[in-house]
Amino acid sequence: MPSLSTLSPDALAELRSKLRGEYETLKAQGLKLDMTRGKPASDQLDLAAEMLALPGNRDTTAEDGTDARNYGNLQGLPEARALFAPVLGAPPEQIVIANNSSLALMHDVLVYALLKGVPGGDGPWSKQEPITILCPVPGYDRHFALCEGFGIRMIPIPMTGEGPDMAAVEREAADPSVKGIWCVPQYSNPSGETYSDETVRRLAALKAAAPDFRILWDNAYAVHHLTEARPSLVDILEACTQAGHPDRPIVFTSTSKVTLAGAGLAMLAASSANVKWYLAQAGRRSIGPDKLNQLRHVRFLRDAAGIAAHMDRHRALIGPKFAAVEEAFAARLDGWDVARWSRPLGGYFVTLDVTDGTASQVVRLAGEAGIALTPAGATHPYGRDPHDRTLRIAPTFPKLDAVRTAAEAVALCTLLAAVEARAAG
Ligand SMILES: Cc1ncc(COP(=O)(O)O)c(C=O)c1O
Repeated sequence: MPSLSTLSPDALAELRSKLRGEYETLKAQGLKLDMTRGKPASDQLDLAAEMLALPGNRDTTAEDGTDARNYGNLQGLPEARALFAPVLGAPPEQIVIANNSSLALMHDVLVYALLKGVPGGDGPWSKQEPITILCPVPGYDRHFALCEGFGIRMIPIPMTGEGPDMAAVEREAADPSVKGIWCVPQYSNPSGETYSDETVRRLAALKAAAPDFRILWDNAYAVHHLTEARPSLVDILEACTQAGHPDRPIVFTSTSKVTLAGAGLAMLAASSANVKWYLAQAGRRSIGPDKLNQLRHVRFLRDAAGIAAHMDRHRALIGPKFAAVEEAFAARLDGWDVARWSRPLGGYFVTLDVTDGTASQVVRLAGEAGIALTPAGATHPYGRDPHDRTLRIAPTFPKLDAVRTAAEAVALCTLLAAVEARAAG
């Protein structure tokens, strides 16, 4: 198959009119499909249906005698902390199990840092403005929205396939206004990559000019595998302790995409000093978390093997959707040299890098054909992708047939946009 650059003007015009014809046929189908939402589908939520009957009304006492129906236990039930210790890579005493959203925990950590400062620092971050957080790109738009909302400056750092470009991180962190970095270290949102051992060790050993530099380690996809492979992500808490920076990382995760999205458990793990600091702030905010939901999760998931078995059931439902995206993209785009896409081994997204300067046009074309895509630019701070290149595809929520149809349509729009850009330029 020839690449676009080798086509004669006539051949390019012919291809363009053929693709335009296909596109008009696509539009005439009047589709209404949504590939924007990284949400579990309802059959995935059904997997946790039995959990809703737990803990039942006669068995609400936790292992330490706590009545889960009552106030208290700010750090979370010991059995819930023990259940998630292997997921977080921390001992139960360094874990906080909170309520339903890890994003809310990240928000709170930032607010407490801004208003109060963090252990090892020189007081509130808000008094040291401007402050900066490094943002690996492509990245998670809600991380960027938190920073933007609080007036925290963001510096994009390119992802390399093994995590962020560490040379760039090391260069930027020499500036004392740089207070931290966002990381989605495993099956990253949206590139799907997992940080290499070297990346994690360099982050742990980083010579940050700010003494209170924080790694915001959002391990949202810690157990969300799509294959038999299991990535070996270095334990950031241990690596930082070994490197002499025990207070640097704060690890977040949740069961939003394990049990119920928005009705699961969110948690963090960190050094004892960070946990003490966090609880001191959180104790003013709330008298304690929803421990009935904690018991519900403990009794439903039981142990690490229970979590793994449950995630296998998710994989059986969503694996074919990711395979359908791969098939559709390969069938239409292979050989044209107009796009690259990720083949994630886990997580919730496929990244589609289209021809530079055409991502917004692909979103527009898809939208006019009834397929909603996440806006171009959403994967970058301030919604600005300087290359107008990266799209985030979320295949989990629609039904399999719809995913296939939508992916074929996105591939057509990608090729059409590339051909039209070439013809115009
Ligand atoms: C990287 C990442 N972090 C956090 C979240 C949100 O997690 P939660 O539901 O626990 O707030 C998501 C959801 O898509 C995500 O992709």
